[in-house]
Amino acid sequence: MANYDLTSRIAPHLDRHLVFPLLEFLQERQLYAEDEILKAKIELLSQTNMVDYAMDIHKTLYHTEEVPQEMVDRRVQVVARLKSLEESVAPLISFLQNATLVQELRPDKQYNIQMLNDRFQIGVDQIEALYQYAKFQFECGNYSGAADYLYQYRALCTNSDRSLSALWGKLAAEILMQNWDIALEELNRLKEIIDSKNFASPLNQLQNRIWLMHWSLFIFFNHENGRNGIIDLFFQDRYLNAIQTNAHHLLRYVATAVIINKRRRNMLKELIKVIQQEQHCYKDPITEFLEYLYVNYDFEGAQRKLRECEQVILNDPFLGKHVEDGNLTTVPLRDEFLENARLFIFESYCRIHQCIDISMLAEKLNMSYDEAEMWIMNLVRNSKLEAKIDSVSGTVIMRTNHLNVYEQIIENMKNLNMRTHVLAKNILEPAQAATR
Ligand SMILES: *[C@@H]1O[C@H](CO)[C@@H](O)[C@H](O)[C@H]1NC(C)=O
Ligand SMILES: *[C@@H]1O[C@H](CO)[C@@H](O)[C@H](O)[C@H]1NC(C)=O
Ligand SMILES: *[C@@H]1O[C@H](CO)[C@@H](O)[C@H](O)[C@H]1NC(C)=O
Ligand SMILES: *[C@@H]1O[C@H](CO)[C@@H](O)[C@H](O)[C@H]1NC(C)=O
Repeated sequence: MANYDLTSRIAPHLDRHLVFPLLEFLQERQLYAEDEILKAKIELLSQTNMVDYAMDIHKTLYHTEEVPQEMVDRRVQVVARLKSLEESVAPLISFLQNATLVQELRPDKQYNIQMLNDRFQIGVDQIEALYQYAKFQFECGNYSGAADYLYQYRALCTNSDRSLSALWGKLAAEILMQNWDIALEELNRLKEIIDSKNFASPLNQLQNRIWLMHWSLFIFFNHENGRNGIIDLFFQDRYLNAIQTNAHHLLRYVATAVIINKRRRNMLKELIKVIQQEQHCYKDPITEFLEYLYVNYDFEGAQRKLRECEQVILNDPFLGKHVEDGNLTTVPLRDEFLENARLFIFESYCRIHQCIDISMLAEKLNMSYDEAEMWIMNLVRNSKLEAKIDSVSGTVIMRTNHLNVYEQIIENMKNLNMRTHVLAKNILEPAQAATR
């Protein structure tokens, strides 16, 4: 299953702090050796200010009380930098902590900057220091402090690149604090800027979109409205394009989102098209499941894939989130996925067959006869299929309103006829005109 783990493909598109929750998940799932995960954590932390934490992990990993000299040196550096930053930022922070004074700020950056300069001798250097300090706090793992300072910094910052960078930082901090509502707001704000800003190169803009989609996975698979959100975002032309250009692995999340979202079934067709186009660049059991079902009409194959899908979901940091319910641990998304996927299989199957044997179906769905019958009854009630169950013979009889296969072929032939006619006309007429 480690083959299907996307962490190494996703991590390069994340802030290193965001990789941490992924490693925590993998550690819990025991998908890799514990030592490997701990080494990866130390590697991640080496570029941050969380030196004490790195030291703790080092001690656990190597069963020692000693820590390498470079960690000790790094700690000295970090403490020194903190002191110097605190000094430069002190006047501005004490201003921002005084509610009476903060009220004097107006929704006019130029005014505020002037006012701070004239009355408090706080200039651009101090404002820059606020950015550096916020970043420093973020690197220390103080995400709430960082979020506050970045918010205040953006209200005073006039450089659009810096402001964008601060917004990315704010988004990361909100994600790490699991403030999903605010994180979603920041995500939308960021998206608007990315879509409207003039980037130095189109490649740069593309990269920003790819980052945005990766970061959004945390939000969309946690926020209550995320299931619609992910489809709305990822299917926008420019974003779908970005996936197809340089982030094929995101197809797993798009596919999962479409499968579990009953209200967005209409995206299925486009999704299948994209999966087929990209099948040489990316496939996993989830995309293959859709391919087996809707391209090859291979029900056995789809059923087989479903078992692999389950494992993929359980081992995916975004999809495999579990919930403790008393003594019971459930993975809600897995259950929903399987339920919906079986529904997909059944629906496709019913479109092709007219009379379905319930025991055969029970076997295919790995259910008892009674479970299968109950399940079909619910399904028929909830779907657009028209069917009735004949309990005596143990069959479901589909009443097909839609065209059968022969009728479909004839219908397509009509279209073909029409198109040929138009085509011929388009060629013939100019030819005749030329001859004349
Ligand atoms: C806030 O600033 C005002 C004006 O400088 C000052 O009078 C007041 O004492 C300050 N309040 C606090 C809590 O520092
Ligand atoms: C995080 O930052 C806030 C705001 O500066 C500060 O009040 C808090 O003490 C910091 N927390 C830690 C653990 O340093
Ligand atoms: C949890 O486990 C205990 C002991 O095994 C059992 O007595 C209790 O009924 C269980 N609770 C639930 C909600 O299953
Ligand atoms: C069928 O379901 C049972 C439990 O409901 C499970 O133990 C078994 O592995 C499943 N078989 C297949 C082929 O999925």
